[in-house]
This record gives sequence, structure tokens and C-alpha cells, in this order.
Amino acid sequence: MALDLPGGRAARRATAVARLQQAVVAADRGRVVAWLALGSSLAQKGAQLPRRLREMPAFAGDLLDPAQSHGDVLVQVAGPDPTAVRGATEQVAKSAAGWHVRWQVDGFRAENRVEVGKGLARNPFHFTEGFGNPGSELEMADRAVVRGGQGEPDWAVGGSYQVVRIVRFATELWDKDSVREQERIIGRRRDGRWLDGTPTDEQPNFAADPNGKTTPLDSHVRLAAPDRRYPPPIVRRSYNYDRGDGDKGLIFSCFQRDLEQGFEAVQKRLESEAMARYILTTGGGYFFVPPPGDAWIDALFGG
Ligand code: HEM
Repeated sequence: MALDLPGGRAARRATAVARLQQAVVAADRGRVVAWLALGSSLAQKGAQLPRRLREMPAFAGDLLDPAQSHGDVLVQVAGPDPTAVRGATEQVAKSAAGWHVRWQVDGFRAENRVEVGKGLARNPFHFTEGFGNPGSELEMADRAVVRGGQGEPDWAVGGSYQVVRIVRFATELWDKDSVREQERIIGRRRDGRWLDGTPTDEQPNFAADPNGKTTPLDSHVRLAAPDRRYPPPIVRRSYNYDRGDGDKGLIFSCFQRDLEQGFEAVQKRLESEAMARYILTTGGGYFFVPPPGDAWIDALFGG
């Protein structure tokens, strides 16, 4: 759910932000997790934003609908019980007096499970996702959490950049291709095994396949992570969505400590991928999940 805060005096806006923060903290209990993330449009002029935070630009092929893009604040509510998630979301929306809900989208993770420390789920293209993510909390923090000395404002240390992309899938077109063709577009088998036979959790030998005979050079994984020694510094956590009438796909979401080295570098490489003609990004935004506490409110609204 992305919300906008109407204009007004800084003090009024700061109070509304603090109230929303309280509502989100209250929702984050039991089996429901909830957090908020800040859009670049939230802060008062002159406030010190995380240095890479800006409005998400349109990448090649994107068709961003303003009615489901950007927003002053993103609130994400998740959990295993949809009724509890819905209830908590309604609670937050109710407490957000003075806020305008800009857009909202429901997601689900089909066959959600954990294997070797990685959250895996199947997307509407029938592929299991999550293998390229780190298997340990330590490595996850290494990729996703802002550290001191990175040139970020002090208040932002311990936070994380969150990118959301609403990606519509042309599933009918996709389903006309053979499974083999689909696997060559992704660069892995549906179950995660590599195309050269390497097991899911080991490294394939791309060097032995310089022309992409086995794993095409324009396959998703080869472009996303061309050098297996240096995995892209992002942690992905996407959800499927299905709004009926064929409007289904992925609420792609990833976390990183540096937007430019993380999402943006990968996304630019993916512009030439074979999968591009089956997907259309129609919304989302760039956000920043602040570290726990409310030091960020003073930082953004001048105390
Ligand atoms: C929207 C449609 C997308 C689909 C259907 C998709 C699907 C997949 C699948 C099936 C995998 C292989 C399994 C895995 O490692 O999780 C994968 C890997 C990956 N994807 Fe995507 N993805 C999509 C979008 C994106 C976007 C927008 C990015 C980032 C800009 C991205 C970045 C990655 C990365 C970094 C990997 C891991 C590569 C590796 O380490 O081997 N994906 N994706």
C-alpha cells in the first residue's frame, strides 16, 4: 500500500508521519510483519535523504501508470494468514487519517517454502525463484543493509533501499512456448537446476560456455549475474499477483544497501534479456526502509 501525505506545515506532517509509524509498529506482531518505507517525495525540502533515493525512473520498456507508481510512504504487511494480513492492513489504513491511499496491491507466494536458508516460491511463469538469494542472515545483511562509511546520512545506517516493480506477465504467450524454450529464456530449469546439469545450489560453469550454447547469453540469470564470483548485491523477495482478466504477474521486490550497484545495475543489464517481450512493468517505486526507532522523522522534518 502506497500512501501520500497532503501538504501543510512541517509540524503537522511530522505528526501524521509519527502516527502512521505507530500504526505500522502496532500491526507488526504475531504472525504479521509490517514495515514502512519512505519515498523521496515525503521529506521536507532540504532534508537529508538517503543519497540514492529519488523517484523511480522508467527503464526501457516500462509503462509506469502514475496511479500505481511512487508514493510518499510504502506500507508492506505480510504473513501466512491472509485474514490476519487484511485485518492488519485495514487497521493501518484506518489510523492513517489525513493520508491518501495512492495504490494498493495484494500479493501471494505460491508454494512458499524455505530450503537451505532460502525462501523459495513459484511464479506465474511456473519457475521457482529465490535460489540466487543468500542462505544466511549475515550474507543477507551484507547485501541489503546500509552501513556506516557508505556516504549515507547517519540516520540511514541500518536501513535498506526497497525497490518495488509491478510486472505484468504475458502468461498466454509464454505458455505457448515449450518448457525447454522457457528454460533457455530463464537460464535455469523450472525446479532451479542449471541447464548444464549443475545442481541447484552449485555454480554452473559459464566460462566453458562462452557463446551461450547451453545457457544463452541473453537468458535472465546470465544477464542478472554474469560473473558467478560476484553475485549482484540485492536480496529479492517477490510476490505473485492476480487481479483477474489476465492481469497477473509479479510484485517484484528487492532490498539493497546501494541502489545503483544493486537493482539499477542488474535492471540495466536485463534490458536486453530474452524475457523482455513477455513482461511489462506498470508500476512500483523506490523506497527506503528506515532503521528501527524514529530518528528518521526528526531528520526528515527538522525535529
Ligand atoms: C519480473 C519478472 C522476473 C522473473 C519471472 C524472474 C525470474 C527469475 C528466476 C526464475 C530466477 C532463477 C532462480 C533464482 O535465482 O531466484 C531469477 C534469478 C534472478 N533474478 Fe529474476 N525474475 C524477474 C525479474 C527480475 C528483476 C526485475 C531483477 C532485478 C533487476 C531480477 C534479478 C534476478 C537476480 C539477481 C537473480 C539471481 C541470479 C543468480 O544469482 O543466479 N529478476 N529470476
